[in-house]
Amino acid sequence: SPAVPSICGLPLKYVSLVTLAVQNASLTLIMHYSRVSAAPAHTYSAAAAVLMVELLKGLISLVIAFARLDSYAPQYQPLGPQPATSLWNPWMLLSRFRRLGKEVFRSDCWKLSIPAILYVIQNNLQFVAVSNLEAATFQVSYQMKILTTAAFSVVLLRKKLSPVKWLALLFLAIGVGIVQIQSGTHKSSESAERDMNAFKGFMAVVAACFTSGLAGVYFEMVLKNSPADLWVRNVQLSLFSLLPALVPVLFSGPSNASSTTSGLLNTSLFENFGVWAWATVLTQVLGGLLTALVIKYADNILKGFATSLSIVISFLASVALFHLQITVSFVLGASVVLVATWLYNQPESSSTSGSQGNSRE
Ligand code: C5P
Repeated sequence: SPAVPSICGLPLKYVSLVTLAVQNASLTLIMHYSRVSAAPAHTYSAAAAVLMVELLKGLISLVIAFARLDSYAPQYQPLGPQPATSLWNPWMLLSRFRRLGKEVFRSDCWKLSIPAILYVIQNNLQFVAVSNLEAATFQVSYQMKILTTAAFSVVLLRKKLSPVKWLALLFLAIGVGIVQIQSGTHKSSESAERDMNAFKGFMAVVAACFTSGLAGVYFEMVLKNSPADLWVRNVQLSLFSLLPALVPVLFSGPSNASSTTSGLLNTSLFENFGVWAWATVLTQVLGGLLTALVIKYADNILKGFATSLSIVISFLASVALFHLQITVSFVLGASVVLVATWLYNQPESSSTSGSQGNSRE
């Protein structure tokens, strides 16, 4: 198999996993702060944020795909090596764009429409969840992604899971349940002050876990079973995301009850879109790009391990920033989730291990 790329001598697989853990923790906090704590009565449009993320991610992927063209699409290269100056020759540029166009609009590009729609739904649901749950509760509940991802990996990618892994998944569900019990019976000063609805938030998380598992595994399947470049696949994913991301922008009402305008068509798309909204967008763009790298160089199930590490980071930060009260059930639930994650990632001696190190590239 081809050499795994590295950054400063460290394998990209681990660099991207660790960066993703830190990104995940920051995203939960920044998103929560931007929606709940910064200016709850005058919040920005989640749909506009989702659209901006898709546009930026698509643009960055396009630039990378353009720059890497020679490495994955040599079949379209004209007449041997070109002098360096000709790179800026307009005809040369045009020919590069045509080569890129052929790659992006290859006959199987429609396959990306499925994860694209699922991710747009998920990215909108995430805002509902974050706006209605404490940051740490959201973070722990969102770990149920591991469960749905495992289920879809078994069904779609035919991965085999050992009894230990299934046990770990059961623990994971129990841990998430314990954390939920505490958030149902206990109201922090924050959720009482703000208009947060824990049930609505939890339903949004459950739905987002389903789309996350299905979309992630589907993307992995397309990526690993066909020769197209990762960045070309990302461009395709963003292209197919634009239409579904535009729909809620055009038709949804303003997200704050105090507003008197009747829909986003009548208001500015970027009303109340302040520094924290942009910070949320940029952190999500980074997350999307990292997720793609992790899915390529590791896999979806390992991605779950990285993100559950972020629980500890965001929990501690929540205590400091949002005055979250530490309860026994939260600590118990979060510990069970972490132990389950550790158990899940134990290397197996038998040949049943289908999920570790299987990065077919
Ligand atoms: O929670 P989960 O890990 O499933 O979230 C994946 C996130 O990464 C989504 O916001 C999705 O839009 C993004 N993504 C991406 N490009 C990919 C795969 C996922 O931007 N190739």
